[in-house]
Amino acid sequence: MNNSDINPSFLSAIPDAISVEIIVTDLTGTRIIYVNDKSCDLFNYSRADFQMIVSSELLYDGEAPHLWKTEKENTVVKFKTQDNKVIWGLMSSKRIKDKKGNDLGVFHSISNITRRKRAEDQLQQSQKKRKQLSNKLIHAQEAERKRIAVELHDGISSNITAVRLMLERKISEVGLNENTFENIINTLKTISSDTRRISRDLHPSILEDIGLVPALTSLIREFNEMLPDVVFIHQINIDENKINDKAKLTLYRILQEAINNIIKHSGADAITISSDLIDGYQQLEISDNGCSFDVDKVMNSDNEISGLGIESMKERTDDCHGTFQIESSPARGTRICVKVPTQ
Ligand SMILES: Nc1ncnc2c1ncn2[C@@H]1O[C@H](COP(=O)(O)OP(=O)(O)OP(=O)(O)O)[C@@H](O)[C@H]1O
Ligand SMILES: [Mg+2]
Repeated sequence: MNNSDINPSFLSAIPDAISVEIIVTDLTGTRIIYVNDKSCDLFNYSRADFQMIVSSELLYDGEAPHLWKTEKENTVVKFKTQDNKVIWGLMSSKRIKDKKGNDLGVFHSISNITRRKRAEDQLQQSQKKRKQLSNKLIHAQEAERKRIAVELHDGISSNITAVRLMLERKISEVGLNENTFENIINTLKTISSDTRRISRDLHPSILEDIGLVPALTSLIREFNEMLPDVVFIHQINIDENKINDKAKLTLYRILQEAINNIIKHSGADAITISSDLIDGYQQLEISDNGCSFDVDKVMNSDNEISGLGIESMKERTDDCHGTFQIESSPARGTRICVKVPTQ
């Protein structure tokens, strides 16, 4: 087919039938030589108006005017209309040449992607808000846990200890046989130590008192006492002075939740825990040899099928500017790797 056979008035109608905006500028990308009807509609200028303005007036503040003279494919550009409305366009630009190869001008096709861009921005905003909210929730939860832990420790646990001591004193004052009350005293001791344990689980003041390494080791020991049939292998190398309090609490909470998950979901009989300083990051790895699960499904679900544990591990790590990885396969079980930056 030879295009020169087509009636010229038919040819000239084609640009206005195309469903993208077309603008042709001179070689310097300054003067607007040609626009189609769609461009007039989008930018709210008449053809006569377009002759009076320079191309940079179509760009939103901050966009570089050289866009109008450079050949490029699919560049996202922020434009503005005559009445100062924002338009997002996907622009492709190409030099037009005559038959001898001389440059005549620059041809720009623009697809209006404003709706898509707004939807993307909204999605980004709502993801940001969701992240902020879950971050706030973690902090509020931590504060509330601390409050309850202090109440339990200073209130109930201390009172029970006081009652036990008073009872023991009374027994010896009155000269009663201690064995008669042995059960009561032992029960009071158990209540007291259970309350202390719950209090410590709620808020690991042990972190502030004796530091991260003893806190992690004691957490592992407690789980091991609870699960004597499970083999715990651990090697913890941490320089306490190199990580801040938030990162310490993050590592503690992640180990706590990871072991809880292994116990609840995996059926594993071996758990390996290691922590090392690698390339400026304190790394914590927890692996088990239990059953696997679909990590993508759990991480991308709207919490309909999963709980909050893994999400909270990730949020806590993000909050410390660290990285969180979780892998699970039938052959190897589950492996969590967390890295928090050191100072
Ligand atoms: N070590 C693991 N082995 C096997 N499956 C796991 C393991 N860790 C997590 N899972 C799976 O991932 C899911 C999500 O874990 P997550 O900790 O987020 O929630 P949960 O433990 O079910 O509830 P929550 O932590 O809120 O009490 C679990 O329900 C379980 O199916
Ligand atoms: Mg969990």
